[in-house]
Amino acid sequence: MHNLQINAQRLWDSIMETAKIGGTAKGGICRLTLTDLDRQVRDWFVAACEEAGCTVTVDEMGNIFARRPGKDNSLPPIAMGSHLDTQPTGGKFDGVLGVLSGLEVLRTLKDTGYETNAPVEVINWTNEEGSRFAPAMLASGVFAGVFTRDYADGRKDREGKTFGEELDRIGYRGTEKCGDRKLGAFFEIHIEQGPILEDEDKVIGVVTGVQGMRWYEVTVTGFESHAGTTPMHLRRDALVGAARMVEAVNKVALAHPPLAVSTVGLMEVRPNSRNILPGEVFFSVDLRHPEDEVVAAMEIEVREAIGRIAAELKLEAAIEQVWDSPAVKFDPACVGAVSTAAKENGYSHREIVSGAGHDAAYMARVAPTAMIFIPCEKGISHNEVESAEFDHVAAGANVLLRAVLEYDNR
Ligand code: GLV
Ligand code: MN
Ligand code: MN
Ligand code: MN
Repeated sequence: MHNLQINAQRLWDSIMETAKIGGTAKGGICRLTLTDLDRQVRDWFVAACEEAGCTVTVDEMGNIFARRPGKDNSLPPIAMGSHLDTQPTGGKFDGVLGVLSGLEVLRTLKDTGYETNAPVEVINWTNEEGSRFAPAMLASGVFAGVFTRDYADGRKDREGKTFGEELDRIGYRGTEKCGDRKLGAFFEIHIEQGPILEDEDKVIGVVTGVQGMRWYEVTVTGFESHAGTTPMHLRRDALVGAARMVEAVNKVALAHPPLAVSTVGLMEVRPNSRNILPGEVFFSVDLRHPEDEVVAAMEIEVREAIGRIAAELKLEAAIEQVWDSPAVKFDPACVGAVSTAAKENGYSHREIVSGAGHDAAYMARVAPTAMIFIPCEKGISHNEVESAEFDHVAAGANVLLRAVLEYDNR
C-alpha cells in the first residue's frame, strides 16, 4: 500500500523537550492537570500542531483537536491521541507518548504530502490521570456522554479548587460543545505500564480491551482526644480503623486471584498531630478486574468489611463511589488494523488487555476504537523512573501510522 515511516528522532526529541515542562530531579514529570505547567505544555502542543499545518480547535472541556484535512472532508476524522497531564510523580511517557506520536504521524503525512481519504486528527484529552480531580478520564468521559459538563466543572481538588475555575484560569475553555465532534475512529498508543510485553520480548501489544475499574472515597470518623490521657479502651481512633480497612481492601483482591487488584493510594489524617487521636481519616479505594461481575463482588466485600470494622471500633464510615468504568472491548476492525500494521512492519506482537484506564475506554462508546501498547522498562509506570526504549517508541508510532492508513483505506 505504502511504505511511510515516522521520523523516530523527531518524535523522541519532542518527548524529551516536553518532559522539561514540569521535569523532576528524578527524571520524571509533575504536570498535574489544569496547572500552569499544563498550560505551558498545551501551548507547546498547539504551536507544534499549527506548524504541522493543522487547524486547532479547543472544546468546552479544554480537549484540544488538531486536524489535517483529507481528500473528502465530509468524512468524520480518524483520530489519535491521549493525554499530556501526569501523575504528581509521573514518568516521561504515560500519555505524552500517545499525543506526540499522533503529532508525529501528522508531521510525517505533511512531509511526504500523503493525502488520506478522511481528515486525520490528534487529540489531547483533559485530566486523564484523575490524580488532581477524580475521576480519571474526566473530559473524554464528558465527550462520550458518561459525565455532564456541570459534573466535571464542579469536581474539586484536595484544596477545594474546582475543575471549571482552573480550566478558565489557564485559558483553555474552548467554545465547541464537548462531544459535538463526530469521530470516524480513535487510535491511542500508550506504554503498557505493566511487565508482560517486556517479559515475553514482544514489541507491540495489540490491545483488545480495558478491564473494569471502580473508585470510592471513604471518610472514617472517630473522636479527637488527648494521646496521653485517653485510656486505650475509651478511644475512637479513626486511623486505627482506617489501617484495618486498608488491610481488608488488600485482602479482597487476594481473594479473587490472579487478576483482581485493589489499592488504597491516598490517605489524609485529621488533625494530623502526633499527640491527638485522629478524629477523621479520608482515603481512596481503587478496585479492578477484567470482568465487571468480579468488580461488583469486590465492592460488596469491601463495603461489608469497612462496615464491620467501623462497628467494632465504634467509628462512622461513609463510602462514596466516585467512578465506575466498566470493562471495555475494542472494535474488531480497529484491533485488526493494529494487528495488520504490526505484522506488516515485522514487529513481534501479542494481544493484551489493559490494566490501566485510558481515554480510549470512553472513546470506544462513541467511535470504533483500539489501542497499541509498547513495552516500558521493568513494567514500571506511575513512577518517575518510568522508561521506554527509542526503538520501541519508533515501532509503536509506525504501527499507529500504518493502522490509521489501513483504516483509512479499508
Ligand atoms: C487511570 O488512568 C488509571 O488507570 O488509573
Ligand atoms: Mn496514561
Ligand atoms: Mn497514568
Ligand atoms: Mn491512565
